[in-house]
Amino acid sequence: MIFTIAIDGPAAAGKGTLARALAAHYGFAYLDTGLLYRAVGAGVLAGGEAVAVAQALDPSALDNADLRTQVVAEAASRVAVIPDVRAALVAFQRHFARRDGGAVLDGRDIGTVICPQADVKLFVTASAETRAERRYLELADKGVAADRDAILAEVVARDARDTGRAEAPLRAATDATVIDTSDLTAAQALSRALTIVDARRG
Ligand code: C5P
Repeated sequence: MIFTIAIDGPAAAGKGTLARALAAHYGFAYLDTGLLYRAVGAGVLAGGEAVAVAQALDPSALDNADLRTQVVAEAASRVAVIPDVRAALVAFQRHFARRDGGAVLDGRDIGTVICPQADVKLFVTASAETRAERRYLELADKGVAADRDAILAEVVARDARDTGRAEAPLRAATDATVIDTSDLTAAQALSRALTIVDARRG
C-alpha cells in the first residue's frame, strides 16, 4: 500500500506535530525533511563544503538533538538555497514517500517538488507572531532562556529566505488544503487533517 501525505509550511507552524500525529494515527512512516537540510547546515558549520556534505549524507542517521538549535536552522536555510544541495537530497525523499505502508513527509517543497503526486497535500501555516510565541514557550518549557523579539525576527528572516529563493521556494501547491493553526489547538488541527485524509482514503 502506497499512500503519501505531503505537509508544507513555514517555520514553527505546527507541521511536525501534525505530521507525527498523522503518522501515528495511520501507522505510516514519518520523515522530517528539515533534518536533512539541518544536517547539511551543521556540516557546513563544522567546516564542510555544502554540496559535498549533502552528497555524502547518511539520511538514516539524523535524529540528533544538536540539529534542533536556531543556529543550525539558520545554517540549514542558507544551504537550502543551493540547487545542488537540494538535488542531492531528492532521491532519498522520493524513495521514502513511496515506501510500502504509507508515509508522511513535512518540509517546504514536498507537495510542489518532491511529491507532486502525493495523495494528500496540506499547507500548515500560522501568523508569524503565533509561531514565534509557540517557539518561545517551547524553549521556556525546556528551561532555555530566550528573547521573544529575537525569535520573531529569526522566524521572519528564515521565512523570507525560504519563500524568496529561486529553487523550490516555500509555497502551497495549487491543490493543497491550507490549515491555519493560529487559532487551533494541536488536537483541532489534527481533527481537520484526519477529515481530509479519510476522505481521500475512502
Ligand atoms: O523544517 P525545519 O525548520 O527543520 O527546516 C530547516 C530549514 O531547512 C528551512 O528553513 C528550509 O530552509 C530548509 N528546508 C527546505 N526544504 C525542506 C525542508 C527544510 O528548504 N523540504
